[in-house]
Amino acid sequence: MKGVERQSQIYVGGVSGRRPRVPVDFAELERRAEGAMSQKAFAYVAAGAGLEETMRANREAFQRWRIVPRMLRDVSERDTSVELFGRRIPYPFLLAPIGVLELAHREAERAVAPAAAATGVPMIFSNQASTPMEEVAGLLGESPRWFQLYWSVSNDLVESLVGRAEACGCEAIVVTLDTTVLGWRTRDLELAYLPFLRGKGIAQYTSDPVFQRLLDEEPPRPLPGAAPRPGPAALGTLFQLIRNYPERFSPGRARKAVERFIQVYSRPSLSWDDLPFLRERTKLPILLKGIVHPDDARRALDAGIDGLVVSNHGGRQVDGSIGTLDALPGVAEAIDGRIPVLLDSGVRGGADVFKALALGATAVLIGRPYVFGLAVAGEAGVKEVIRNFMADFDLTMGLAGCGSLEAIDRQTLVRAA
Ligand SMILES: Cc1cc2nc3c(=O)[nH]c(=O)nc-3n(C[C@H](O)[C@H](O)[C@H](O)COP(=O)(O)O)c2cc1C
Repeated sequence: MKGVERQSQIYVGGVSGRRPRVPVDFAELERRAEGAMSQKAFAYVAAGAGLEETMRANREAFQRWRIVPRMLRDVSERDTSVELFGRRIPYPFLLAPIGVLELAHREAERAVAPAAAATGVPMIFSNQASTPMEEVAGLLGESPRWFQLYWSVSNDLVESLVGRAEACGCEAIVVTLDTTVLGWRTRDLELAYLPFLRGKGIAQYTSDPVFQRLLDEEPPRPLPGAAPRPGPAALGTLFQLIRNYPERFSPGRARKAVERFIQVYSRPSLSWDDLPFLRERTKLPILLKGIVHPDDARRALDAGIDGLVVSNHGGRQVDGSIGTLDALPGVAEAIDGRIPVLLDSGVRGGADVFKALALGATAVLIGRPYVFGLAVAGEAGVKEVIRNFMADFDLTMGLAGCGSLEAIDRQTLVRAA
């Protein structure tokens, strides 16, 4: 659906007294999502690391560039599509991998997948998803999906996850590099809340045969600070886990699953030397997510990597770090068009997508906006957010005088004074 159709759908609805169910404005969308979620769930999704300076830097970076629209260029036909790894997608955006979506809505990925399929926007399955990838893949039909990997300390688990991703039709593997440990997330610390400890967001693990085997091997060490016997709150969440996987878990095994997950989920020692392991085990394109330095971009090219995601994890990892749009030109210059460069963190509307493309991105990932749409109205909410992004981008592109993505180049922007 092109921008004008979406606009008239909304305006014509207004004639009959209908207003959009999901706020169009991002700040209002976030406010509504806050009202729909528990305090802890909202904090987990909305918050950044430390003083949240990186979140601000992401937005400020977008604000420092201005679009300079060009006139009289016949933009009656606009092609918003782009090809990524041999697949043409309708708009230059994908849904970012977001873990623990059950915090936003109990249907989690089961609500996101139909929205992705209805709009044709690729979905990137999170390694920390609330629903096993095979089940979500089944809801996507032919719609594209990628898999995001957190590199576990267990290479067997890495291999198993990647094999499962291939088997359920994922078309690329995105290795997230910026979260070898969790950042210092002030709001979550204040509430002493980490969803994984409650058995949330570990469905890719609990559904994995290698993870199940790891559970049977030597007993996991209890978590530091854990009481020898779980209290009522901890027990409640373990029972949730058992309810989700009745065939696999007893209370003791559920607790073990959480402890084992904490031990295996990330590998802080990960280095460039590990990448060949993955390269040898999949034919799928491999993207590195979290690259912001041009030297790392060059190194990725040398390592035979197929794409990058310039990202700072939505400001959730290193506080006070560079905004992604500030990092993009240097990375794009180092890559010089040889592989796709994607960007996320702070993308909130069509103009942001436009600016990222103008500075060298092939496409962007939409993150928190779709999670807030999910919180407000489930599947319909995600669909609305995606359709608004599409419309906003299509109209911005046309009004700026660009009939195709190729026309969105560096000349379309100036630095704000
Ligand atoms: C609640 C939440 C969970 C996330 N989980 C993951 C994840 O499991 N894997 C990953 O690579 N990135 C994860 N991210 C980062 C997103 O993929 C993306 O980089 C980020 O949301 C972009 O910032 P924005 O949402 O502010 O636009 C998560 C982000 C949020 C907000």
